Amino acid sequence: MPVLVITGTGTEVGKTITTAAVAASALAAGRSVAVLKAAQTGVRPDEPGDADEVARLAGAVTTAELARYPEPLAPATAARRAGRVPVHPRDVAEAAAKLSTEHDLVLVEGAGGLLVRFDAAGGTLADVAGLLAAPVLVVASAGLGTLNTTELTARELRSRGLDLAGVVIGSWPQAPDLASRCNLADLPDVSGVPLLGALPAGAGALAPAGFRAAAPGWLAPRLDGTWDAEAFRRRESP
Ligand SMILES: Nc1ncnc2c1ncn2[C@@H]1O[C@H](COP(=O)(O)OP(=O)(O)O)[C@@H](O)[C@H]1O
Ligand SMILES: [Mg+2]
Repeated sequence: MPVLVITGTGTEVGKTITTAAVAASALAAGRSVAVLKAAQTGVRPDEPGDADEVARLAGAVTTAELARYPEPLAPATAARRAGRVPVHPRDVAEAAAKLSTEHDLVLVEGAGGLLVRFDAAGGTLADVAGLLAAPVLVVASAGLGTLNTTELTARELRSRGLDLAGVVIGSWPQAPDLASRCNLADLPDVSGVPLLGALPAGAGALAPAGFRAAAPGWLAPRLDGTWDAEAFRRRESP
């Protein structure tokens, strides 16, 4: 799995924190890791972006960002309003392929959800995954509303013939409500793929050393971790 594309059911679902956990687990397993943020929006040139946040939490990863636009909008819109060249799926795929020649694992984080547009032609992260023939990891929220957005995302990936690697819950509440608990059984059902992890709420606020030590415990063996979906479900949703 040299390239893994990381998308989400929306924005603020925990893609960046999940990317950091996947990176930390791969590093702990002795693999070299690069993180590519295709297009970063909503940060100024001097502010840390998502790739920098991954490096802060996970440690020694190569970071890359193809473009940065100041307004917190979809990349295509942000590029247009800034009068700047957009990022095209082909650019992202080429950058990821190049990084994959020098790293064991390349994580490509999108912006927002799967069909958020990069360019005026309607190019998306799904096109990037198609160009790379790379598996896609879907980060989902835990509670009410996630079944619909997760199933829509899974269906779109399947309709494009893409490989859906699994679903990770970006932030698992300390006191999960009924919907969250039921979703542990329903998310694999509606997506057709296993849960590959759940990050505890508050994970992003851990000190880097604590984050790195704990990350493998939040992710399944497919992602270099030790997390057991069935044991988690039994414990959290008795
Ligand atoms: N498990 C978590 N623990 C703590 N904070 C989290 C967790 N997941 C997400 N967050 C916080 O929620 C916000 C959105 O998370 P982020 O990973 O940046 O989402 P996305 O990349 O999907 O937009 C950030 O402020 C992040 O710190
Ligand atoms: Mg992010």
